[in-house]
Amino acid sequence: HLADLLVRKGYEVHGLLRRSSTFNKQNIDHLRGKIQYHYADLTDPFSLIWALKKSNPTEIYNLGAQSHVQISWEIPYYTAQVDAIGVLNLLEAVRVLGIKPKIYQASTSELFSGRERGAQNEKTPKDPISPYGTSKLFGFQIAKNYRDAYGMFICNGILFNHDSERRGDNFVTKKIVRDIKDLRLGNIYTKRDFGYSPEYMEIAWKMLQQDKPDDYVVATGETTSIKQFAQYVADAYGVPLNIKIDLEYSRPNDVPVLKGDARKARKKLKWKPKVKAKELANLMVNYEKRKL
Ligand code: GDD
Repeated sequence: HLADLLVRKGYEVHGLLRRSSTFNKQNIDHLRGKIQYHYADLTDPFSLIWALKKSNPTEIYNLGAQSHVQISWEIPYYTAQVDAIGVLNLLEAVRVLGIKPKIYQASTSELFSGRERGAQNEKTPKDPISPYGTSKLFGFQIAKNYRDAYGMFICNGILFNHDSERRGDNFVTKKIVRDIKDLRLGNIYTKRDFGYSPEYMEIAWKMLQQDKPDDYVVATGETTSIKQFAQYVADAYGVPLNIKIDLEYSRPNDVPVLKGDARKARKKLKWKPKVKAKELANLMVNYEKRKL
């Protein structure tokens, strides 16, 4: 979605490509010829230096991560190497080359414990409860350190869940939409603040168009349980909801409630969320139906 937006705006877009034995570019296949790729990896500082040297970017969006919270319990070391040290690698690569791009760091609502009273905003204490969240906290803080100490233009976007038709199969929204007739889920009572990825990428871009770098919470302000989201999906298909609980999909620890207070982004970036959970479920179901 970010690449779509940048291409639409006339940017020359460069992307980092992680080597894999099978292709995993299905979400950007339609942009073939409009993106220049560089094989690189956040855990390989030399590859970052080369990619930066070849592309000489004016803006960098670091969305690279091991982004699955449950899987971060199984590969915590790798998650930390990418989501924590990877950010440091990128920032140091920028410094080594002496370039001055504006930088967006994809931060997350998983920085919060989800046990706070009321909605979470930029001032809410950060107390992550998973290897993913803890690694992302390092990324958040090191970005802030470099901004404060070196005067680098870096923004942390503290984005709450954002999903879309293109969501990966093992995240809960897509899994529900795909498996509605034979649904096996873990904890269905956690609550998430679900927004729409294309809208959130527009906000990420806006952050870098400001005069000064800052950190922003991006969220809809509405919180929905997984069970309720599944109900929206069942309604959109017109089928009864039947969920089997399968402990394989529950986590050692799980953020119970996320509900973002995005007043700062709304005001400073002049933004208002359009798509919320129910509309998201409809969009995702319609897309799946069209595919069938
Ligand atoms: N994935 C998954 N699969 N989650 C399930 C399942 C299941 O079968 N059953 C219940 N859940 C619950 C999870 O335990 C969690 O409470 C919730 O559904 C959402 O899970 P995910 O869709 O995996 O997303 P997430 O909230 O853990 O993390 C996403 O949002 C973060 C922002 O808050 C990811 O996109 C992160 O990368 C992102 O930082």
